[in-house]
Amino acid sequence: AGPTNPQPYQDAYSGFTEYVLSINRPQYPSANEMYLKEQLRSLIDVEIVQRIQPSARVIPFGSLVNGFATANSDLDLCILDDSPNPRYKIKTELPEVLAAEFERYGFEVKLLTKTRIPIIKLVQGPTAQFPLGLAMDIGFENRLALHNTRLLATYSRIDSRLREMVLFVKHWAKVRGINSSYHGTLSSYGYVLTILHFLINVASPSCLPNLQHIGAQVPVPFEELECEGYNIWFFKDLTNIPPSLNRRSIGELMAEYFSYYAQFDFRNMVISIRTPGGLLTKTSKGWTQALDRVGPEDQKVRSRNFLCIEDPFEITHNVGRTVGKNGLYDIRGEYMRASKLTRARDPRVFRALCEQR
Ligand code: GTP
Ligand code: MG
Repeated sequence: AGPTNPQPYQDAYSGFTEYVLSINRPQYPSANEMYLKEQLRSLIDVEIVQRIQPSARVIPFGSLVNGFATANSDLDLCILDDSPNPRYKIKTELPEVLAAEFERYGFEVKLLTKTRIPIIKLVQGPTAQFPLGLAMDIGFENRLALHNTRLLATYSRIDSRLREMVLFVKHWAKVRGINSSYHGTLSSYGYVLTILHFLINVASPSCLPNLQHIGAQVPVPFEELECEGYNIWFFKDLTNIPPSLNRRSIGELMAEYFSYYAQFDFRNMVISIRTPGGLLTKTSKGWTQALDRVGPEDQKVRSRNFLCIEDPFEITHNVGRTVGKNGLYDIRGEYMRASKLTRARDPRVFRALCEQR
């Protein structure tokens, strides 16, 4: 068991820790923003979706639920329907019907049907409530996303340093132009998995246990163990997880994180947080070249496999599939730059870290 009264964090990097927190603080979403987003979710659920399809439910997921939201994060919603006789078929009919309905409500609407699951992208222009406007992604039946959201939420409750690292990396990746799956770099979700691998497997002693491996896999009654054919079990009893023996400050962990990925063997390795040790080879996964695989709805999913991060549950899915050759070059370059700037431990030097590229 760990110490009952943990020592305060060491602060060899106290200046850098302060810098990280000073970048993060203005990005914490306010209670008011969270409240307004919940109101909007409820409007979409009750007034729009349930009127069109009474058997459907609208569930939030992504950063708003997993604890990693920043001010102006998008609102990720998932529409589920358990009814055996729904009015509209959830994946093939409902998306179009709803897209038309959202348009009538004044949203800017884009319906994506060539994606793994149908997605409606809604954009709301600036309003009094959301002065910067608001983006929403509504997915249909993406149940696995609800489970990985819960896994991330559980990790974020174990150690508060995780959330600070995620907020900082999200900000850094955004201003450095390497946080866009549409432009050949990595999604926020992908960066979160890189940080989890670091805190579980690289930091020594480790900051987080591997929740997919600790404890006997003894399910709690009624616990779901499988979703769409994938094992979704993980350890949820937080009261039985002792505090980490790793007392490094956020700044020091950030510096170690950057230097680990500056030297990471992206060419051969796959980050896999479910696996003991956290790494697999591309060869063992068959992820050595670009692959088209057939997704759950018979659509083709192209994985480029330059940068490989295995989804913790959907283990055939490479979360880094969108990263192209140039994207990987940029991401590596940014990790090397960040590692160099943070090692200086000099505020005049590391302040350049989050300069807009
Ligand atoms: P921000 O929106 O940047 O605040 O972070 P986010 O965690 O909400 O990320 P994003 O909106 O990109 O993704 C929403 C959720 O989709 C993630 O949290 C995951 O639960 C789920 N997801 C599952 N697979 C993927 C994937 O391959 N890429 C992305 N982007 N999301 C995935
Ligand atoms: Mg999101």
